[in-house]
Amino acid sequence: MVNEREWIDEAWSDITNKILRTSKKIGANFPHASVGGEYEFAAPHWWTAGFWPGQLWLIYRDSKEESLRKIAEECEEQLDNVITDYYRLDHDIGFMWTLTSIARYKLLGDEDSKRRGLLAANLLMARFNVNGNYIRAWNPWFEGDENRGYAIIDCAMNLSILFWASEQTGDPRFKSVAMKHADTILEHFIEADGSVHHIVNFNPETGERIEFIGGQGYASDSAWTRGTAWAIYGLTICYEYTGEDKYLQTAKNVAHFFIANLPEDYVPHWDFRIPEDVTSYRDSSAGAIAAPGLLLLAEKVPQKEAHIYKNAGEKILQSLYENYGAWDNPNEDGVILHGTGHYPEQKNLNNPLIYGDYFFVEGIARLKGYTDLFWQK
Ligand code: GLY
Repeated sequence: MVNEREWIDEAWSDITNKILRTSKKIGANFPHASVGGEYEFAAPHWWTAGFWPGQLWLIYRDSKEESLRKIAEECEEQLDNVITDYYRLDHDIGFMWTLTSIARYKLLGDEDSKRRGLLAANLLMARFNVNGNYIRAWNPWFEGDENRGYAIIDCAMNLSILFWASEQTGDPRFKSVAMKHADTILEHFIEADGSVHHIVNFNPETGERIEFIGGQGYASDSAWTRGTAWAIYGLTICYEYTGEDKYLQTAKNVAHFFIANLPEDYVPHWDFRIPEDVTSYRDSSAGAIAAPGLLLLAEKVPQKEAHIYKNAGEKILQSLYENYGAWDNPNEDGVILHGTGHYPEQKNLNNPLIYGDYFFVEGIARLKGYTDLFWQK
């Protein structure tokens, strides 16, 4: 193991070299999962569209490498074709435009990007169900699919675009909707022990809670690891924008559950409650998402507590770098190996995933001192 801080610079340099290389191959496409060493591309309306350009922005910010800026801008411009795709765009508008338009606006002050970000925030706000105080997650996946009442924990991370829109416009509506949804998360998604439900189904007419659904986790009463990570990071951001202690305390509770259940190498399995006879793949993406969330949480708590979250965030990132990185393999497009996309549907198991890559790069960027990342105030 290299000395305490040296590994961070080494990791950043390995990341930069890798992205400079893969950017020539991937270009202005939308990679999703790497299979057999090659990233498969998704359509631009898919929820993962922001993560590749987001990574390019993170590297551009430090390197000022123009080729990366151009690709990121081209990706963003392609999203103009999907912003009116009413039947396919869902609550992941937040992920998509935060890491494209908002990133560009924050770095370069581009007014068109700001306008795109505000339009995306309007569309996300329009998914709010006033009966149940939740943002509707998806549209029907097939004819007759009834998911009007579905809210999912992943949306915690989509809320930042609403907070951003209120800050930009001075209009409190966006922030109010984000806080109503965040309050629903506290009331319905988080158990007292800090474990998190993936899907909660509400009656869309009365707002009454009907059931918990396992979704991408093992079961309705298990604890999907990536969902736990979304909750840590998303609620910490809610605290940053609102100063409401309830979000901070819940983020801490969920973080304790997450940290206490990590295996020896600090990189979680895909669910924290997998029965013994079910394959316990790692989900490196869950570790990668939780890590920058934990590092941000460490900045928000009193100093005497900060080390708990900071150490955990750093240990996850160091383990991902040393044990899960694909640095020496020129035939692997992915940055971080061993992600699990959707175990119950047996999709993208044990592969690099673009969101795992993105959040790993974001976590290392934070350790390098870039502490004002795209989701933040
Ligand atoms: N937001 C979808 C996922 O985490 O897989």
